[in-house]
Amino acid sequence: MAVVRLPDPRAASSDAHGRHRTRHTHPRTEYYLAVTPHTDDRLIGFARLGLSGVQAAKLGAAIAADHWRCGYALDAARTIIHFGFTTLGLHRISGAIGPDNAASIALVTRLGFTREGRLRDHVFTNGAWRDSILYSLLAHEWETSCRPQTSSPQATVTKD
Ligand SMILES: CC(C)(COP(=O)(O)OP(=O)(O)OC[C@H]1O[C@@H](n2cnc3c(N)ncnc32)[C@H](O)[C@@H]1OP(=O)(O)O)[C@@H](O)C(=O)NCCC(=O)NCCS
Repeated sequence: MAVVRLPDPRAASSDAHGRHRTRHTHPRTEYYLAVTPHTDDRLIGFARLGLSGVQAAKLGAAIAADHWRCGYALDAARTIIHFGFTTLGLHRISGAIGPDNAASIALVTRLGFTREGRLRDHVFTNGAWRDSILYSLLAHEWETSCRPQTSSPQATVTKD
């Protein structure tokens, strides 16, 4: 299992220009889990929940390419989804994924998300509009399916 940790919320709160980082927005609008390998403390990826709407959030995740297919994203996503539905009291978590992003589609499918449909010209990227496939997971679906495994990651996640 991956080691998944929440960055220290007491870390510096502004960049060189004095701009505050988003995690210090009140009320907080996004949560990140940092992913490190079993062996050391290098950052190799993250999972994110961006709060959006009423008791709803958008899921995001990325893992360094040389660590793909090792279960890190699945582990991190499970952990932050569980945090979202329990600690944050979310009702719905969604993900909008490019139609060609087979890895992300496999990830949300594995997590029990339901495909809702196609968002036309949803994202402007690389000079062109791109559709997204919208997936979602509801709290009661999580309760009956994809809770964290018994060998859960070494994560301590708090709301603040
Ligand atoms: C999507 C991403 C986060 C997956 O990370 P990962 O750590 O390799 O994923 P995992 O190893 O946890 O795999 C999760 C599931 O997806 C499957 N999967 C992962 N990559 C896959 C691929 N390229 N093709 C098909 N299935 C894939 C795995 O087999 C696993 O399913 P299984 O448990 O049934 O075998 C990673 O590919 C990534 O960072 N991509 C670039 C960023 C990105 O696209 N982020 C999403 C934006 S919304």
